[in-house]
Amino acid sequence: MKQKVLIIYYTQTGQQREILDRLLSPLAADAAVELTFHQIKPVVDYPFPWDGHSFFDAFPESFLQLPCEIEPIDNEILQQDYDLIILGYQVWYLSPSIPFNSFLKSEAARRLLHGKPVITVINCRNMWVMAQEKVKRLLYSIGANHVGNIARVDRHLNHVSVITIVHWMMNGRKDAYLGIFPKPGVSDKDIAESDRFGVPILAHLKRGDYSTLQDELLEQGAVMIRPVLVFTDKRANTLFAKWAKLIRSKGLPGADARKPWLKAFNYYLLFAIWVLAPIVSLLFLILHLPFLSFIRKETRYYKSVYFKIPR
Ligand SMILES: Cc1cc2nc3c(=O)[nH]c(=O)nc-3n(C[C@H](O)[C@H](O)[C@H](O)COP(=O)(O)O)c2cc1C
Repeated sequence: MKQKVLIIYYTQTGQQREILDRLLSPLAADAAVELTFHQIKPVVDYPFPWDGHSFFDAFPESFLQLPCEIEPIDNEILQQDYDLIILGYQVWYLSPSIPFNSFLKSEAARRLLHGKPVITVINCRNMWVMAQEKVKRLLYSIGANHVGNIARVDRHLNHVSVITIVHWMMNGRKDAYLGIFPKPGVSDKDIAESDRFGVPILAHLKRGDYSTLQDELLEQGAVMIRPVLVFTDKRANTLFAKWAKLIRSKGLPGADARKPWLKAFNYYLLFAIWVLAPIVSLLFLILHLPFLSFIRKETRYYKSVYFKIPR
């Protein structure tokens, strides 16, 4: 009997699917493994390329993890008993993207993931650690067995990737902005080399034991943690929570009453990225020395698939 693997993902630019295809190529090449892909589809999908208003209008619901309506999953998929489930998602506003969060909060997710080994594959700019904690919490509440995580990011300097991703998201082209900036997103090389993660995944699938999978994925460089980004991610989460609640209190997505507040958030974000973030990074560099052992411990935790249950 073939081993069945279900891959559930969302993508706007196609980058998530490219990564998954490459990563899973060792499984696809094995005649004893059957792969089924399901792309999450919001009933009203988010635009790509984005326009300025839609981009910011997605913020409150993304951050507050409020689901949108998504197309139902085929019964054929819902009725199968999968050996392994792979979830591919992207980060929107330090949280799982709205389409992916909507899937995780659905009844279908409970039905498919409960008691199953699950591997998460993240693709984003570079700030994903707190989003993954939110995903870990949802997987924990579903009763899924989270056995692996791989994060593919843009490795360029934080501020360079801010400029290039805006160009990509607003123009729809993953090319070099002004001909001088690097290409945005996960590099072609990192996408092409993702197949190395498929090798341990296939071996563990065959064994039906995933206890050492994450360690082996880490040996292959599946997760890179930059403590300064984690520090910024945490601080930004505290401030985003206030902004998201405020804007949501003004109305639902598309409401005119939200517009001035979204504009204000837009300016705040520019200020946060270009003024606050460098100060936060500098503070972190100055203050981190006495906390080195804490940072090391925290980094180990964020590289792992453990979930610290909040008291
Ligand atoms: C509305 C929006 C918000 C985003 N917020 C973040 C973020 O907080 N952190 C991050 O690293 N990337 C962020 N990104 C970048 C996405 O993760 C990026 O679009 C994704 O890598 C592209 O993958 P896809 O086309 O396969 O969906 C954001 C993108 C969008 C569109």
